[in-house]
Amino acid sequence: MVHAIRVHENGGPEVLKWEGVEVSDPAAGEVWIRHTAVGLNFIDTYFRSGLYPAPSGLPFIPGNEGAGIVVAVGEGVDTLNVGDRIAYAGPIGSYSEERVIAADRLVKVPDDVDDKVAAAMMLKGMTAQYLLRQTYNVTSETTLLFHAAAGGVGLIAGQWASHLGATVIGTVGSEEKAELAKANGYTHVINYRTEDFVERVKEITNGKGCDVVYDSVGQDTYPGSLDCLKPLGLWASFGQSSGPIADFNLGLLAQKGSLFATRPTLFTYIATAETLASTARDLFDVIQSGAVKIAVNQEYALADARQAHEDLEGRKTTGATVLVP
Ligand SMILES: NC(=O)c1ccc[n+]([C@@H]2O[C@H](COP(=O)([O-])OP(=O)(O)OC[C@H]3O[C@@H](n4cnc5c(N)ncnc54)[C@H](OP(=O)(O)O)[C@@H]3O)[C@@H](O)[C@H]2O)c1
Repeated sequence: MVHAIRVHENGGPEVLKWEGVEVSDPAAGEVWIRHTAVGLNFIDTYFRSGLYPAPSGLPFIPGNEGAGIVVAVGEGVDTLNVGDRIAYAGPIGSYSEERVIAADRLVKVPDDVDDKVAAAMMLKGMTAQYLLRQTYNVTSETTLLFHAAAGGVGLIAGQWASHLGATVIGTVGSEEKAELAKANGYTHVINYRTEDFVERVKEITNGKGCDVVYDSVGQDTYPGSLDCLKPLGLWASFGQSSGPIADFNLGLLAQKGSLFATRPTLFTYIATAETLASTARDLFDVIQSGAVKIAVNQEYALADARQAHEDLEGRKTTGATVLVP
């Protein structure tokens, strides 16, 4: 018997319960891992609330990111050994002391990357990777807007985009967060609670607009984000921290300059063992070179996941958060 957070009914943070659960032996192609750190992500709140249905139905163990150590390997697993340090993003079920998981979803953690950093960066860092390097190829010619710049994905993306030489504009919800964003690669930071971000982006870009807008806020920044783009610009809508966009109007893309729109998700970009390995490799490279640093700004006991969710949804956290089993 080990302990895990389980959700028996969808709802607020109070539905996260700390319980004893059984872990069964790994089947062929699987390994048994013991978590040393678990990453907290906004997507965990979508599964908890029911906005995204859990694939296995109720009850389920939430969590999509973790790091730990291999304690047993199933038949046919020849890429991992007992004692290997590993980390992953998805499949769901990381809010547990121990779990069984498909071996081909794991990556080995380099010796110079700490467990908490690994747990904090797999989902958020690989998201920054695909958004900046695959959804759009950010270069020194690029001007981009990234909403929620001081958040988990936001602080990584700011440093990475700056490293690629882009002009990086970010939005944040407080002055403290503005300072943090400026220290993490953002050239211009807008407080979208006190300033009109569309007007500010026009001023900053001399009326030209951005090549790409990365929008994970959703309801509150739509359709304003479309007005921040150049003609033929790309709107990458990759989340909904303020709530889902209720009525997406395709016609607006024509009216606002033949815009492109995409609604990407990390799990498409790391669907195969090859794309997972190449995306993770690119992430480890920028971490190991020092170009991108992972800020683990909050730590909670895994048993206190409820408090962590309240703080994340209450906009109290910055950078990454880990839950410690
Ligand atoms: N599609 C994908 O592949 C993918 C992968 C990873 C993450 N995501 C999305 O990216 C976003 C960021 O994820 P994260 O885990 O790094 O979270 P996060 O950015 O650390 O936290 C969310 C932030 O959103 C901002 N926000 C704006 N309006 C909000 C509201 N009404 N309620 C709560 N927060 C609000 C807050 O920052 P301010 O106070 O500065 O506004 C808050 O700190 C999430 O929407 C997540 O779903 C998508």
